[in-house]
Amino acid sequence: MNWEEVYTHAKQWVKEAGETIRLSFDKTLNIQTKTNRNDLVTNMDKEIEQFFIKKIREVYPGHHILGEEGFGDEFKTLEGVVWLIDPIDGTMNFIHQQRNFAISLGVYENGIGKVGLIYDVVHDELYHAKRGDGAFLNDKPIPPLKEAKVEDSIIALNATWVMENHRIDHHLMIPLVRAARGTRSYGTAALEMVFVATGRVDAYLSMRLSPWDVAAGAIIVEELGGVVTNLRGEKLDFLSKDSLFTAKPGLHQIILKDYLKNGKW
Ligand code: IPD
Ligand code: CA
Ligand code: CA
Repeated sequence: MNWEEVYTHAKQWVKEAGETIRLSFDKTLNIQTKTNRNDLVTNMDKEIEQFFIKKIREVYPGHHILGEEGFGDEFKTLEGVVWLIDPIDGTMNFIHQQRNFAISLGVYENGIGKVGLIYDVVHDELYHAKRGDGAFLNDKPIPPLKEAKVEDSIIALNATWVMENHRIDHHLMIPLVRAARGTRSYGTAALEMVFVATGRVDAYLSMRLSPWDVAAGAIIVEELGGVVTNLRGEKLDFLSKDSLFTAKPGLHQIILKDYLKNGKW
């Protein structure tokens, strides 16, 4: 596989998709709900996913595609080359705020992350990485991550953790929130992961995410020396929903050991 070529194509397609989204801001969105009234999808989520699928199928007919909106393939392994696509991560923000959302695209080969792109459409900021070649924000290399202490950290997390239907040990988060310098909640896993990659936050924790939410971000964060696991400290399989815990090196180990290890996540 010519990964340089895949990388080039992916960057072109993501930019093109971003332009389509920017142009949609003046048009009326068609908003629908999925599993519940807060699980939103728009015509743009669908259109953008279909755009990527068309492009990928034209150039790489042998590749598999897993997309959030279901226009891709159904499969149970990550064998071969798989594109994991979230056409709009942060759909609720996209609808309510027209900002704080991103396109997320990760390409894996036999379960190993090769190319990851997260495009902050509104700021025209493309975060991208090809395995082994470092990570970039537009044309600028992103510096490797340095270790941090909990008391100096900003931690991104989401208050939906306290909802009753989430049967988890969210009370264990209280000491961590108290110990940290501050917390943030942006409502877009993809951007929260690149905020870890760029050091804007020091860690990001989420209770339940899907493979397309984390596929690209994991490649970018790991390329900079950050650590990506679930809340139990295990590697992600990129096939099932799971919790997520990503942080700077060292900090990840400390939070896992001192705050998360007794939780049922
Ligand atoms: C959502 C966002 C959000 C996270 C949700 C995701 P979507 O993705 O990443 O931050 O908390 O769990 O589903 O639905 O906007 O693509
Ligand atoms: Ca998402
Ligand atoms: Ca989405």
